[in-house]
Amino acid sequence: MREYTPETITDAVIEQMATTPDPRMKEIMNAAVRHMHAFARETNLTPGEWIKGIEFMTKVGQMCSPARQEFILLSDTMGLSALVNIMHDKTKMEEATGASLLGPFFRENTPKFESGAQIAKKTDGAEVVLYGRVTNVQGAPLANSQVTVWQTAADGRYDIQNGIEEIDCRGIFRTDDKGNYLVRTVRPLGYFIPLDGPVGQMVMTQKRHGMRPAHIHFSLFGRAFAQRLVTQMYFPDDPLFEFDPIFQSVRDPRDRERLISRFDLDATTPEWALGFRFDIVLRGREQTPFEETN
Ligand SMILES: [Fe+2]
Repeated sequence: MREYTPETITDAVIEQMATTPDPRMKEIMNAAVRHMHAFARETNLTPGEWIKGIEFMTKVGQMCSPARQEFILLSDTMGLSALVNIMHDKTKMEEATGASLLGPFFRENTPKFESGAQIAKKTDGAEVVLYGRVTNVQGAPLANSQVTVWQTAADGRYDIQNGIEEIDCRGIFRTDDKGNYLVRTVRPLGYFIPLDGPVGQMVMTQKRHGMRPAHIHFSLFGRAFAQRLVTQMYFPDDPLFEFDPIFQSVRDPRDRERLISRFDLDATTPEWALGFRFDIVLRGREQTPFEETN
């Protein structure tokens, strides 16, 4: 029988997997084995510690349901989702607004509003005027584009967390002939990622706070571009940027700049509402008209 040492076992595994027919699968699995073995050697991982790791991943799997994906949350909180997205985000080269995760709180059932309408049922003195221009990368305005927004209410909760029949703080708008949109809303609150599962336990054990910076989700469709853009808008000077537990708001500085709205004095009504400007640049040229929904 062949004797393995910590140095030779890695090659033995790779040798046995050499029959893998799919070359990309073979490349990925070889790298996974090499890096996992290196991780065990570097940390001098004990059998007891590895069992703990397996128990943790078992709990992550058991937490998954059709409504909850704990493995995605694990990937997000370890920065792996952000890394994979950054490596393949083609929008950077085209100077367009970057995409981000859709998140669990999007819903098809969203009311349509006239430009400038208030989407929050309760405003409680936290009103915000949000406007901006939607253009292509050449700076040409994109008229009649569909702009969907959704966010937490001023108490930091999404409508859907209060019941499936509740619809609040979400709406569909259209840009005018100059590409401008105008939304009245309330300032959303930052909120915690789900902390009641094994990933939340991990985040708390690491003494991370698990709170995302306040943001408004955007989804854009239009006839002038072929691809839907899903993104998130942030507010200037949020101290939580550097601590985002899923690393969405701390990507490269150019990208980040485009995702942060600007305080806008002209749009601000004293003692009534703060104004913010958020321009959106969509990639893609004139293409076959996109079939719009809603
Ligand atoms: Fe969100």
